[in-house]
Amino acid sequence: MDIQRSAAQPSTAPTAIRREDYSPPAWEVPQIALDFALDPADTRVRAALTVTRSSPHDMPLVLDGAGQMPLSVKVDGVAVNDWRIEGEQLVVPLTGDHHVVETEVSIAPESNTQLMGLYASGGNLCTQCEAEGFRRITWFPDRPDVLSVYRVRMTADRRRYPVLLANGDPVASGENDDGTHWAEWHDPFPKPSYLFALVAGDLAVNASTFTTMSGREVRLGIWVRAADLAKTDHALHALKLSMAWDERVYGREYDLDVFNIVAVDDFNFGAMENKGLNIFNSRYILADPDTATDYDYDAVAAVVAHEYFHNWSGNRITCRDWFQLSLKEGFTVYRDQCFSADQGSAAVKRIEDVRGLRASQFPEDSGPLAHPVRPESYIEISNFYTATIYNKGAELIRMMATMLGPVRFRAATDLYFDRFDGTAATCEDFVACMEEAGGIDLSQFRLWYSQAGTPRVSAGLSHEPGGGRAELRLAQHVPATPGQSVKQPMLLPLKVRLFGAETGRPLTDERLILLDQVAETITFESVTERPVLSINRGFSAPIVVESDRTAEDLAFLSAHDDDPFARYEAMQQLMLDTLVAGTIHGEVKGQAVIDAVTRTLEAEGLELAFLAEAVLLPSENFIGDQLVTVDPDAIHAARETLRTQLGRALLPTWRRLYAELAQGRYVYSPEAKGRRRLRNVALGYIAASGAEDAAALAFAQFEAADNMTDRQAALTTLVSSDAPEREDALAHFHARYAGNGLVLDKWFQTQALSSRSDTGAVVERLAQHPDFTLANPNRARALLGAFGVNQRAFNAADGSGYRFLAEQLIALDRLNPQTAAKLLPPLGRWRRFDAKRSGLMRAELVRIVETPGLSKDLFEQASKSLD
Ligand code: PHE
Ligand code: ZN
Repeated sequence: MDIQRSAAQPSTAPTAIRREDYSPPAWEVPQIALDFALDPADTRVRAALTVTRSSPHDMPLVLDGAGQMPLSVKVDGVAVNDWRIEGEQLVVPLTGDHHVVETEVSIAPESNTQLMGLYASGGNLCTQCEAEGFRRITWFPDRPDVLSVYRVRMTADRRRYPVLLANGDPVASGENDDGTHWAEWHDPFPKPSYLFALVAGDLAVNASTFTTMSGREVRLGIWVRAADLAKTDHALHALKLSMAWDERVYGREYDLDVFNIVAVDDFNFGAMENKGLNIFNSRYILADPDTATDYDYDAVAAVVAHEYFHNWSGNRITCRDWFQLSLKEGFTVYRDQCFSADQGSAAVKRIEDVRGLRASQFPEDSGPLAHPVRPESYIEISNFYTATIYNKGAELIRMMATMLGPVRFRAATDLYFDRFDGTAATCEDFVACMEEAGGIDLSQFRLWYSQAGTPRVSAGLSHEPGGGRAELRLAQHVPATPGQSVKQPMLLPLKVRLFGAETGRPLTDERLILLDQVAETITFESVTERPVLSINRGFSAPIVVESDRTAEDLAFLSAHDDDPFARYEAMQQLMLDTLVAGTIHGEVKGQAVIDAVTRTLEAEGLELAFLAEAVLLPSENFIGDQLVTVDPDAIHAARETLRTQLGRALLPTWRRLYAELAQGRYVYSPEAKGRRRLRNVALGYIAASGAEDAAALAFAQFEAADNMTDRQAALTTLVSSDAPEREDALAHFHARYAGNGLVLDKWFQTQALSSRSDTGAVVERLAQHPDFTLANPNRARALLGAFGVNQRAFNAADGSGYRFLAEQLIALDRLNPQTAAKLLPPLGRWRRFDAKRSGLMRAELVRIVETPGLSKDLFEQASKSLD
């Protein structure tokens, strides 16, 4: 039989997969045995699938495969030749209800640049299967609702690949006399193919144990290249904290005897929750004070927790189909957010999460790529690992937790884990458990899963001075999104409280208002003085609030609100109003902000990390998101002006803080992190003031720092300046960290984020730097991803930024479609800009779409962005 090797990319126009077309698998695969003869150029994969007809039907067995062809097919031990290839599927006719189907393929991990399936990274071999990578390894029904028990045997060169790992528990290993060795692993828990993993490499381990709540001892291992072993303690510690936290907070215990994590340098996402064998982007494992910032330390702990928590929310209960992705991701993000909140300041964690949501999810929800938390269709599922699925999905879980309260929420998650353990479930299954154990009706709440777009709530408070009564008029509006022009009103849980303008004291308790109508009026009795509205406290709903609060009201709340998030939010709104007005009118009236910042810095009892967040101005992008037409230069000018005003007006305060907050030897603790953060914010404002010694101060900090947080902060300050120290610092930094990929990423990223006017040209030059490569996703993201969010540089009026990004993405698409597609969204903001910029952006999108041989990934993102 003559079979063409199927091309990596489809030549015909890609078709959409629809949620409504779901049907259960025709064949189950209760068991699979895999045998790998590992070799970078020619790995032989033999698979034996025990298959069972799932219901009376006469359909053949259909297996997915991509980029390989079967070398042989056997049924019940006998070679057959009545199979056929249809598109990317292998169709095997079967007569009985139970068979063993065996295939053998050859794959070449060393030439796998997509980093999906089996690939090489830093001389080691590893796998990435979510969402559809397993089909690049062997023929299989590669869908999450087919659950199998895996037995894996690996044979590999003993010296090159001394360590052989797979899911589950190791069962046997040995040596052959041809220089190879072998190992066998068995995972007793049935799992979908996207959770399969193996690693073969020359790795060292940071090993430890954890005793679970029922007294079982689990062997933990974090595997990295030997030189990195000293940087794994933080991750190991975070893993143990996560294991204990999931027992304490959700009653969930780990279930295998071994839990391994492997760090690799080439990875498309953050990390992967493969059963018993997590594989991580090394940036979320490796941390020491000299190379990782406080932000990096926090991210390592959060991602370690996230992947660990997936063992229950993802692995024990998985997703029926990829439309249900938020079932595992939204819930698991919510879980990791709560974990992180418990490790330090819950208030600051909430502020960071909302900042992140506004920076990534809100723009997505108001742009051409908007989609519901449970999408209706996709062309390429990899494009749906989005802020909407993850972060808005987490907000949905949080809203349900808020409405249920802690006790009923825990009862509801217990019910969910109990009822769906060992199955592939849906978002609906989860909501039904919340409803049942919570004793509430969530019919209308379900719209959060199906309606895209960020709801907008307008809030107006009125008060009759004599009558003692206040009325809060609320109205909601959900904007149209692609494919959804008409929306229904949603159920919005809004935490609200009133404060007295004269006394500064609360006038009411905190109330949870469930807004479920288009418009509603809420009445408050015995309101004895003019009330000021604190609304959406704790960011209880992921919405935009438009209120009639004055600058004085906002300043008042920023000083008196007892909810730290609301307090932060009032300041942000005051800053935002000032900056939007400044952008439009070309004059920045900063006095109210200056007064509010002064008062906040003088207030008693606030955490330093909170202060640092509270006094930071909203980003240029976020200001742009408030405007009908984004004028990047005017926004930049307004923001810089306010920064300078704040810098000058409070210069003595910034200097005092800078001096007082200096610390001795580096320690990593919530307190020490807060000091560093506020001190570096102070440094930024000293620089913004134009003080003559600012560059010298930053350079001195850069040179003296015993940790990356302070060094990177100083570098960031210098890189946006015209000071002569700028070049020096960049050169030192580069030389000092030669060969350290993760730190070089920072070197690229810091320059791409610079606010200088030559940043576009600098970035184009950096793309030619010998250390730049599109082959490594972290490096590509460090330069191109950062440039894409640098609003002023990317949107240069001549379109050079657009052209540069498009060229890079077309080149990157040939190597790694997933990573290219992830970096496209900045080009989709064209509707928000003036006609000239829109035209230039659209032209680049057209150029991308018309590129011959484009991947489905980039095609979907670019073509949807044009609509
Ligand atoms: N499932 C991974 C997570 O924990 C993300 C991921 C998706 C990783 C696809 C690799 C590929 O969020
Ligand atoms: Zn996840």
